[in-house]
Amino acid sequence: MRCEIRVLEYNSATLIHITSHIIPKQVNIFLPGASGFVGQRVLNDLLSAGHTVTALVHSARSKSRLASHYPGLSIAPGDVSHADEILRALPAGTEAVVYLPGLLREFPNKGITFRKVHVEGVQNVLSAAKQQGVRRWIELSALGAGPNPSTAYYRTKLEAEELVRSSGLDWTILRPSLIFDDRPRSEHNFVGEVARAIRIAPFIPILGSGAFRLQPISLDDVSQAIVQALAEPETFGNIYKLGGPETLTYREVVLWIADAMGSKKAAIQIPLWAILAMARRLDRFTWFPISTDEITMLRNGNYVHDPADNQKVRETFDLPMKRFSDCIGLALKK
Ligand SMILES: NC(=O)c1ccc[n+]([C@@H]2O[C@H](COP(=O)([O-])OP(=O)(O)OC[C@H]3O[C@@H](n4cnc5c(N)ncnc54)[C@H](OP(=O)(O)O)[C@@H]3O)[C@@H](O)[C@H]2O)c1
Repeated sequence: MRCEIRVLEYNSATLIHITSHIIPKQVNIFLPGASGFVGQRVLNDLLSAGHTVTALVHSARSKSRLASHYPGLSIAPGDVSHADEILRALPAGTEAVVYLPGLLREFPNKGITFRKVHVEGVQNVLSAAKQQGVRRWIELSALGAGPNPSTAYYRTKLEAEELVRSSGLDWTILRPSLIFDDRPRSEHNFVGEVARAIRIAPFIPILGSGAFRLQPISLDDVSQAIVQALAEPETFGNIYKLGGPETLTYREVVLWIADAMGSKKAAIQIPLWAILAMARRLDRFTWFPISTDEITMLRNGNYVHDPADNQKVRETFDLPMKRFSDCIGLALKK
């Protein structure tokens, strides 16, 4: 444990604030969602920072992928919605949980629901964590999980936040906007979805006017915020809204992606009523590219409204704050 003395003010009386940091300590972390888009970067950054990680894996595919990328990594199989599996998976000696599992789309006919992963999952992992004496919890929520959530995704994210906030643990909640990958790889989450649509369609499809505002944040920034929050007591009991350094319209985001792909197709607006009508009929099928909830979330925008929230993030974390427009060409390289 290291002590740091910070001089906060220097007036007639100097105020000295003593903060204890747990920075150099190697923490034993339980990481559900380690195999996901965000999880793999977080896993990598936590291991690089010297922490010990037990990765909770859900599917057999994720298990073999992580085992081959990280020989020697402690891997525990389990579904967060099954309390008994989580009790078995969470090892004794765990000091912190970084909770990442999340769904952007649910398929109730297949038993895949927001409630199971966002709410019951958090409940089960919280309960197992408390039994092992865990004190620290980091929750990856979503921008939009504030008051009056507009979709079931946001509602269940907010419910999960409420469970975490009333848990009695030292919690930190991070609410990112859309996350983009800032390094070359084959899967890019929402960038990949847009790129696929541009590749398949005879034109560049723009949802409605495309004027909705987004504040994409890089995977590196989100992952670094998690790693830094873990060691920073100032973040206990705080919610951080994570947006990148530029606010772009959805149309601009799509055109940046098309440009990075070298696409010369024309951009054509698809009326929102038309895409909503199709989504209402088809979004229960995995092959349909977008759900009604996703359309609602996009058209409501996804950016940090109050500049004070951006300021709070900059004052707390030391983040690279990568710009979408600088990184997107690189991220789409194979
Ligand atoms: N990506 C974004 O733009 C974005 C923006 C804002 C917030 N977020 C939040 O960030 C978190 C991570 O998102 P992501 O983009 O990394 O998602 P992702 O790539 O879809 O990964 C989801 C992870 O959750 C795991 N998982 C799903 N259901 C599970 C279950 N029942 N039990 C245990 N694990 C389960 C998956 O494991 P398997 O692969 O083995 O099923 C996977 O590791 C989510 O909470 C999401 O809501 C993401």
